[in-house]
Amino acid sequence: MNTNNALQLNNSDLESGMRTKIKVSGLNAWYADNQALKDINIEIKENSITAFIGPSGCGKTTLLRCFNRMNDIIKDFKIEGNIVIDGEDINSIKMQKNLIDLRKKVGMVFQQPNLFPMSINQNMRLPIKENLNGLRSKEIKDIIEKKLKDAHIYDEVKDRLNKSALRLSGGQQQRICIARTITIEPEIILFDEPCSALDPISTLKIEDLLLDLKNKYTIVIVTHNLEQARRIADYAAFFYEGRIIEQGNSEDIFINPKELLTQNYIRGKF
Ligand SMILES: Nc1ncnc2c1ncn2[C@@H]1O[C@H](COP(=O)(O)OP(=O)(O)OP(=O)(O)O)[C@@H](O)[C@H]1O
Ligand SMILES: [Mg+2]
Repeated sequence: MNTNNALQLNNSDLESGMRTKIKVSGLNAWYADNQALKDINIEIKENSITAFIGPSGCGKTTLLRCFNRMNDIIKDFKIEGNIVIDGEDINSIKMQKNLIDLRKKVGMVFQQPNLFPMSINQNMRLPIKENLNGLRSKEIKDIIEKKLKDAHIYDEVKDRLNKSALRLSGGQQQRICIARTITIEPEIILFDEPCSALDPISTLKIEDLLLDLKNKYTIVIVTHNLEQARRIADYAAFFYEGRIIEQGNSEDIFINPKELLTQNYIRGKF
């Protein structure tokens, strides 16, 4: 680990009173010749919700996907700079095994629920089978029940655990996806527009859930719904054309943004 980084981490932790979980410094990223991220510097605090906001194509998803190296699979994707999670520079990870560990630690929930066409139980068993081999079926049943409860969905599905997961509503499916993600106990959960396909009531249920989950996990969420970011985020970062224009406490960003670009975006002038 770079000692410099460790020192910076400690200093900023002291200032804010919250521990830094992810520290990004001088990050640039390209898809072939197209530079998608430009000199990104941000610290994500533990047990908090950080919202990435900004117009389409400004690099929010790209940065999110850097946090568990999902962009590795994209041909011609190139990155420069540092992403340090719990003191480890994740871009220096070479071994496949460590990359698998990184992805266990940094879970992800997408815009569209991505359940498999099988029962709720079978969907929930997939990560358990891969990661918690050797458990007895009663133990697996208990884990599934606990995680469904933690994801605020158990009561709605407890009588249909052996029915197809795809018969649930979009909002219910999204909460099952979250239950599946927390089954392997990640430390960070990345959400890329998790509510954009959902109705307002399902959206509020997910927001409640996120507020609950932040007690245990560090959450980063990309959202186009500014009201949502305002309701749930502790911190926010406004992206524009690959740069972070402004970041800080979400109250400051939404009520008193300093930069003209942020002001215009918040006021819907884009
Ligand atoms: N797989 C890819 N291959 C090539 N270019 C990409 C790829 N994904 C994103 N880009 C480009 O990188 C830039 C940033 O895209 P990104 O998806 O990070 O934006 P975003 O802020 O998430 O946008 P949106 O709000 O529309 O989801 C854009 O110019 C986009 O076209
Ligand atoms: Mg995106």
